[in-house]
Amino acid sequence: YTLTVDRTRTGPEIGERMYGVFYEDINRAADGGLYAELVQNRSFEYAPVDNPSYTGLTAWTETATGGATGTARVVDDEHRLNERNRNHLRLELHGTGGADARHGVTNTGYNSGIAVERGERYDFSVWARTDSRRGTPLTVTLHDVSGEPLAAPLRPTVRGDRWTKYTGTLTARATSTTGRLTVAAGGFGTLRLDMVSLFPRDTYKGRPNGMRKDLAEKIAALKPGFLRFPGGCLVNTGSHEAYEAPNWERRRSYQWKDTIGPVEERATNANFWGYNQSYGLGYYEYFRFAEDIGAMPLPVVPALVTGCGENEATDDPELLRRHVRDTLDLIEFANGPVTSEWGARRAEMGHPEPFGLTHLAVGNEENLPDAYYERLAAFREAVEAEHPEITVIANSGPDDTGATFDRAWELARETGVEMVDEHYYNSPSWFLENNERYDSYDRFGPKVFLGEYASQDNRFRNSLAEAAFMTGLERNADVVEMASYAPLLANTDSVQWSPDLIWFDNARSWGSTSYETQKLFMTNTGDEVVPSTASATPVVSGPITGAIGLSTWATSAAYDDVRVVSADGEELFADDFSSGAGRWTEAAGRGTWTVEGGAYVQTDTAAENTMVTAGDPAWHDYDLHVRATKREG
Ligand code: AHR
Repeated sequence: YTLTVDRTRTGPEIGERMYGVFYEDINRAADGGLYAELVQNRSFEYAPVDNPSYTGLTAWTETATGGATGTARVVDDEHRLNERNRNHLRLELHGTGGADARHGVTNTGYNSGIAVERGERYDFSVWARTDSRRGTPLTVTLHDVSGEPLAAPLRPTVRGDRWTKYTGTLTARATSTTGRLTVAAGGFGTLRLDMVSLFPRDTYKGRPNGMRKDLAEKIAALKPGFLRFPGGCLVNTGSHEAYEAPNWERRRSYQWKDTIGPVEERATNANFWGYNQSYGLGYYEYFRFAEDIGAMPLPVVPALVTGCGENEATDDPELLRRHVRDTLDLIEFANGPVTSEWGARRAEMGHPEPFGLTHLAVGNEENLPDAYYERLAAFREAVEAEHPEITVIANSGPDDTGATFDRAWELARETGVEMVDEHYYNSPSWFLENNERYDSYDRFGPKVFLGEYASQDNRFRNSLAEAAFMTGLERNADVVEMASYAPLLANTDSVQWSPDLIWFDNARSWGSTSYETQKLFMTNTGDEVVPSTASATPVVSGPITGAIGLSTWATSAAYDDVRVVSADGEELFADDFSSGAGRWTEAAGRGTWTVEGGAYVQTDTAAENTMVTAGDPAWHDYDLHVRATKREG
């Protein structure tokens, strides 16, 4: 292998923002994921419009002890907590049983339950009101699935028929991944509950209403140059109306103003990916998280043209004006002085200093480039007039090539946009074959933001192909200014999209091999490209006519199966050793296979060839030598 460095030339500089992360609330990345809230459906807002399997009591079950009787119903009536948080739980308490009799509800959390760690503190809160003049005693217990207590209970008394927030802290005395939270009441009368919450005190950087620590740390360990949020397909799709009377219906496009302010006043919404999203993790929290991990915030606002399998362009000039206004307000929310309307809202939430927004994207994967660029013009004109310092990023639709893609790029060039977002998900061999994709891009045209890409699996070969491709991105860092793998997070119990960078359940999280590739590049980014050429004689090229030597270390338990696959995972041949001894030799043995039409026949087996003796715990060095006369795929 020969690497020749050309010292006479300099290559493009690689910007600090070259590699970032694309966060979308997909695969339950927010509720039940990065957002550290442990109670599922805390405001009883789950509804069939989010997912046909939902009811207001999803993740809750009714419970009674000590002879208590009563009813538990989710209602939307004039006693609601506020106009945007419309459902609450109404408990009718019959006053039966002894003094300790309790009737209430139990929450199952996400995945196998609420995960708690011994010694850690968990902040409980609930909004409540009662019509009982004597007050209503509450018992709040954290216990595991078998009923074993995990913390000393809280015993607040609800007083008065006005909504009041009650709080307390539970300290876990045992570790569990099957925790349950029960809120139950004694006495007689009507008790109303809403926003039942349990939050670990130990969030990322100790932020209130903050992020689950292990997930946030895994993202932070990538040292992302930027954080693109909140999507993805969920940004553009759905109604573009605001969540205000008389438009209370769900399935609004993701609009930032729905996601800020006190959490109990954030209306929940149907998530494009088939579940309910609470917006507890909203724009303020995203900006704060970006700042905490040293990433440039990069929000995406709806463009009023759908993509992601839908082909609609909203034709309503008044609505377009409102969305453009909302975008200007977003810039003020992020950067404006505390004396401005939206800067004051940011300060009220705890961040008087600006967040330093410099880039924002309009839209995601629009299939109608002409309609999209027409609406984009209105956003650009307004932003350029009031905030010339902000870069507005356009996009090129859902593909890496084709008529829609070409038309989008044509319009991008014609209208002089600064940066175009590209998205593609392809096979590993596509990534290997397209290392030179950006070599021919116009050096003077719009810059590229590769906002989403991944090779289609989470195996080693995928990360290897992505790594190879990323060398092509870096070589073209003068054109490709930013790039992010997608999607970022996946809860193993709610997978709408795979592969993903980081996987998790309620207690554990782990990076995929692609995560390791991203981390390698993101934490070792060079300052500039050094022009160089490399040459080598490939071990295998074209049809295989020679021998492939595979050498491996194995114990008796380590290998019962060997497969040789192409870059895309197509099996070229395999051996599960089921036909007895003979294919492996220790050190010097040889087994020879001939691949014929995808199958193989073993043609040469020395009698002494055996796998390791069963039960032998020692490591042995094995060589597998394969000769194939024909290569399939
Ligand atoms: O990353 C998953 C999805 O892929 C995104 O929501 C969308 O932009 C793309 O199609």
